[in-house]
Parts: sequence; structure tokens; C-alpha cells
Amino acid sequence: MPLTPATTTRDRAVFLKRWLRRPLGMGSVTPSSRALGRAMARAALQLLPDGGTIVELGAGTGSITRALLAAGLPPERLIPVELDPELHAHLARSFPGLRLLRGDAAALPDLLAVHGVGPVGAVVSGLPLLAMPAPVVEAIVTAAVAVLPPGGALVQFTYGPASPIPPELLRRLRLDAIRGPRIWSNLPPAVVWRFTRRAN
Ligand SMILES: C[S@@+](CC[C@H](N)C(=O)[O-])C[C@H]1O[C@@H](n2cnc3c(N)ncnc32)[C@H](O)[C@@H]1O
Repeated sequence: MPLTPATTTRDRAVFLKRWLRRPLGMGSVTPSSRALGRAMARAALQLLPDGGTIVELGAGTGSITRALLAAGLPPERLIPVELDPELHAHLARSFPGLRLLRGDAAALPDLLAVHGVGPVGAVVSGLPLLAMPAPVVEAIVTAAVAVLPPGGALVQFTYGPASPIPPELLRRLRLDAIRGPRIWSNLPPAVVWRFTRRAN
């Protein structure tokens, strides 16, 4: 699959246009940096079972998608999910041959079932959880955890100082949290968190 090496000017323009329309749904005015994409990919691939598939929530203009592919994830093992129709169409043009799903991350189990997507090894999320109301965060995180195997990881970045998943929800969903370093070169600076579903 021919890939542009980095986020393009066109990507930035499309992203900004969608932010002007849906600031809360986008959460940021600009796509994630290459450094943040690399950190997300590293965290997701670390615990991925052999042959495992990664589902990417909120793919946007594809900065994390691109990082996952550049880190060696085969395209047939990556399923980006995007809610916004314009961004979904933009992704389809940027990543021909990739299996892209359009839908709501909060309905992930049904969305994967409808499209016949088999077992998932890890979920990577670029969703702006910090900007979302608590019930929406709970619905999305619960849906993501529902498709993970025991020991599987949900990787999420945040601009905030604390875990993007509240402690009470972590307890209820039996998730162990590991905080990565802050990526200062991203605007705004971001922290990558890995949440692992307890095996027992
Ligand atoms: C902060 S942007 C991140 C884009 C890209 N992953 C990046 O890091 O540059 C958040 C993306 O999540 C998408 N999104 C928001 N709510 C969603 C939902 N419920 N289901 C799927 N995608 C959603 C937005 O349309 C947007 O593309």
C-alpha cells in the first residue's frame, strides 16, 4: 500500500474543517504528531498476541493509522473506525486497501460483528475522552473492553494530567493502568496510557 510518510497539508486542512464543525467530537485542532503516533504504536504492539488484529477508534486523518503500519503491523490486521463521514471518506482515499469501518465506537461489538471482524488483539484509541461526557466515556470504554481478550490492551492518549479513564471505571472493568512518558513535542503535549484487561 503506497503511504505518504507523514500528515499532509491536506490532512491538516480536513482536520481543522471538521474541528470547526464538531470541536468536542474532534478534541484537537490538529492531528497527532509523528512522535505521538510512534508512542501509541509502540504501546499497542508491545503486548499484541502473535497474528493479533488492532482496532483503531477515531482514526481521524490517519496519523496513528500511519504509525501502526510504519511500525510493521500488516494492513490486513488493522481496522480503523471513524464516526465522521467526511473523515471516513478522506481515510479511504489516503489508505486504499485498508478495511475501514464507519460507526460509533460506543457500539463497537455490534459494529465488528456486522462487518464479520474476528478476534481483536488490542484497541488503540485517538478519541477525545477528556472532552466527552462521563456516560459517553463509560459507553465507549465498556464497548472497547468487551472486544478485548483477557490480557489484551486498550491504548489511549490524553492531554490531561490524570488517567483518561476514571479510577472507578477502571475498577469496575478490571483494567490495570500503565502511564507512559509525556510526549512534549506533540501539540498539546500528550501522555500515552495502556489499560490491560485483567486475565482473572
Ligand atoms: C482527536 S481526533 C484524533 C484523530 C487521530 N486519531 C489523531 O490522533 O490525529 C478524534 C477522532 O475521533 C472521531 N470520533 C469522535 N467520536 C467518535 C465515536 N464515538 N466513534 C468513532 N470515532 C469518533 C472524530 O471524528 C475524530 O476523527
